[in-house]
Amino acid sequence: MTTPVPDDASLTPPPGCPAHGLGTEGLRRLYGPEAEADPAGLYEKLRAEHGEVAPVLLHGDLPAWLILGHSANLTAMRTPSRFSRDSRRWTAFQEDRVTPDSPLMPVIAWQPLCVFADGEEHKRLRGAVTDSLNRFDRRGIRRYVTRFTDQLIQDFGPAGRAELVAQFAEHLPMLVMTQVVGMPEEYGPRLVEAARDLMKGTETAIASNEYVVATLRRMMERKRVAPGADLVSWLMQHDAGLTDDEVLEHLRVVLLAANETTVNLIADTLKLVLTDRRFRAHLSGGHMTLPDALDQVLWDSAPMSLVAGRWATGDTELGGQQIKAGDMLLLGLAAGNVDPAVRPDLSTPLYGNRSHLAFGGGPHECPGQDIGRAIAETGIDILLTRLPDIQLAVPEEELTWTSAWLSRHLTGLPVSFTPRARGEGEAGAPGAVPSTAQAGPAATVPAQAGPSQAAPSAAPAQAVTIPRQRRGWWSTLTGRFRR
Ligand code: HEM
Repeated sequence: MTTPVPDDASLTPPPGCPAHGLGTEGLRRLYGPEAEADPAGLYEKLRAEHGEVAPVLLHGDLPAWLILGHSANLTAMRTPSRFSRDSRRWTAFQEDRVTPDSPLMPVIAWQPLCVFADGEEHKRLRGAVTDSLNRFDRRGIRRYVTRFTDQLIQDFGPAGRAELVAQFAEHLPMLVMTQVVGMPEEYGPRLVEAARDLMKGTETAIASNEYVVATLRRMMERKRVAPGADLVSWLMQHDAGLTDDEVLEHLRVVLLAANETTVNLIADTLKLVLTDRRFRAHLSGGHMTLPDALDQVLWDSAPMSLVAGRWATGDTELGGQQIKAGDMLLLGLAAGNVDPAVRPDLSTPLYGNRSHLAFGGGPHECPGQDIGRAIAETGIDILLTRLPDIQLAVPEEELTWTSAWLSRHLTGLPVSFTPRARGEGEAGAPGAVPSTAQAGPAATVPAQAGPSQAAPSAAPAQAVTIPRQRRGWWSTLTGRFRR
């Protein structure tokens, strides 16, 4: 395979790396201002230069392979005997070339987590997570989503305008996840804030991480004494016999994995609904359901562009490249989703087609995808039902994204709509507009009857109205986030 001569500034100078099949000479960086300005453009350059699998440089100019092909991604995900999840195999680690302060460390430093495990150990750890997640019924999740969506709309509804990334998408998933985990709602605002902080990698990210860990530790102590119907209790009780550290780390991973991805899915879907008239017409005209619409977004804007990663267990070949034992591979989910081999015409709709790579695949395929979808679907459905004339408040060209090496975020989505009074049209309120999300079985179940609640049948559907006390902290928080 030939590597064309570089012609732009994102290319790095020599020297190469003689110890590996990956020379640094002429390799493109996957980080830095140029790469982050247009990741999709970079992937296409790499595809044109190298085909399905391209050599790239990560932070610190450490070499890795980026998988661009749809089929090559699936091979790497589905063949753990050749492509392990255990980052300790990485040659760069073994040669002490990754500094402790490297920005790669939070993502790839090995931990006793299902994410980094293979084989039987992976089955043990993941089994505990999936069994516990599967104990939640989808209706319970949708009830939480309905309640929190209504709270968020109550907060910005009277203004007749909102910024949907900061005031909606960045709040909803974490609020729902606090209920899944089994936390009192009072923890919600600070956790939303901490997750935002971690996502943005600000200078307070370490303190935010410590807050998340301390909160989870406190929850574990409580649930040990008084277990509930929630993820903390179920993980602690699971037959896999997770240690306290394993429970804590898996809770942290679930919270963070669920948050960032679902935030992006909600923001990108709303952006499409608000900017693409054909898309919105298909949706409102019944030609496409919201779940089908989500699949289109999952194809075109994978919430995680890359997964880092897989590590070669021995010398092998992938996409025509010779991979050495200990080399790192990045799953290029966004690139694989637009591989011309599977999508010769990107404008052909793929509503409802689920063979995209957005949730990964093989033994590590996302175990929380149904929950992520339920949060996005229900939240968006209710928002569009409650605010039927919602529209973008700025020209589409003014929307911007920030990119980091693993994902890309819409920075803001300003909208306007007819102002609505608090409580107007909500489930249980006078003159309520029936939402399709609520027209299903979820609407028949009391709003407070989620798995973590003590008295499942105690409250009627009106319980979605926010108690005065909760509205107080809620308004304070969203007020602080307003831009
Ligand atoms: C739209 C939402 C979501 C997207 C796009 C997404 C995507 C992904 C991807 C790409 C992976 C890596 C797969 C691989 O390495 O092959 C993953 C793993 C994971 N996700 Fe999700 N995810 C989402 C929501 C969630 C939610 C809501 C939860 C929890 C409730 C969750 C929990 C996890 C966990 C625990 C793993 C690690 C699994 C393992 O290594 O065995 N995710 N997710």
